[in-house]
Amino acid sequence: MDFAARITGTGSAFPKNRLSNAVIVKRLAKLGVKTSDTWIRERTGILERRISDVENPAELNSSLGFSAAQKALEMAGKSPEDIDQIIYATCSPDTLLPSTACWLQHKLGASKAWAMDINAACSGFIYGLVTAEKFIQTGQVRTTLVVGGEVLHPFLNWEDRNSCILFGDGAGAAIVERVPADSTHRILSSNLLSDGNLWELFHMPAGGSNMEVTPERYSRKLNKYKMKGKEIFKVAVKTLADFAVHALNENLMTIDDLDWLVPHQANLRIIEAVAKRIKLPMEKVIVNVERYGNTSAATIPTALDEAVRDGRIKSGQTVLLDAFGAGLTYGSLLLRW
Ligand code: ACO
Repeated sequence: MDFAARITGTGSAFPKNRLSNAVIVKRLAKLGVKTSDTWIRERTGILERRISDVENPAELNSSLGFSAAQKALEMAGKSPEDIDQIIYATCSPDTLLPSTACWLQHKLGASKAWAMDINAACSGFIYGLVTAEKFIQTGQVRTTLVVGGEVLHPFLNWEDRNSCILFGDGAGAAIVERVPADSTHRILSSNLLSDGNLWELFHMPAGGSNMEVTPERYSRKLNKYKMKGKEIFKVAVKTLADFAVHALNENLMTIDDLDWLVPHQANLRIIEAVAKRIKLPMEKVIVNVERYGNTSAATIPTALDEAVRDGRIKSGQTVLLDAFGAGLTYGSLLLRW
């Protein structure tokens, strides 16, 4: 390969409205569902999440992606006209047609780009980065905008205390650019895998072409998420840890060579269990789940952006992105910042 890919800018955006655990507790109580701030904090680490006002055009998924993209472009010193490719990772598109990537292109005025969505749920941002890297390596593309963005709350079942407490809305973006293959600052390696046999652990029965949403299905909440949290928890800890170790091994590195782990932010206990399993001190793990909950494809780019902007992640450091998501999907990506 003549070329490698490097992230040169990041950005993130969240809706204004903060939904604290206390407000959720009150909301669920009205529906006759019991939960508590203590339970949510102790079992998930989440204190609050952001919820979009979808009546406000500025808080649609593509609009959050737009704000995040503008910040990433600014950091990279690029304009929308420089973008060759837009990849939007989401499982909560603005509309099924057109893609959220095309809505974003329209908002950005990135007239020279081609645009597409990727749905790999919470692993989507890594799937997007890997796709961008491959196009860049072939020489076909010079600059890609990769966004992980979600507005998940319309798909939550607010009577299911297991799942509704976990999720939030937001978007993160990265500008990925072509650099020489031997550049110090580049994506070093990546690994993707899916296991469709585990589809049932996290799925939405209706709303796709297989099952139209009828009033009867709507009342049974078949167009909302169904989750087997305990089973996901176990698979997540094992695969996140395995993917992290594999990424280091294939680059002839040890855990001591890793400066930062940016894991999917689903549950603080999952993150802590992974760190313990791979013997990485929590001081080297980027965590923002307490403020935003699980924003699916947006967790990794927003956590990355935060750590880049506050100076924790520094030039030349080794950073591992590591995710799992509905599908199930898995992905990791090791890079030198
Ligand atoms: N408040 C109070 N009690 C609750 C709540 C709640 N919100 N939710 C569950 N409970 C109860 C359960 O009913 C159960 O009660 P029981 O013992 O009387 O049956 C008890 O708490 C323990 O339940 P567990 O399921 O064992 O709790 P656990 O510690 O596993 O935590 C959780 C549940 C938070 C869902 C955890 O398993 C988890 O985070 N799993 C991963 C979920 C995930 O990542 N989903 C997304 C993956 S894909 C993507 O990111 C798009």
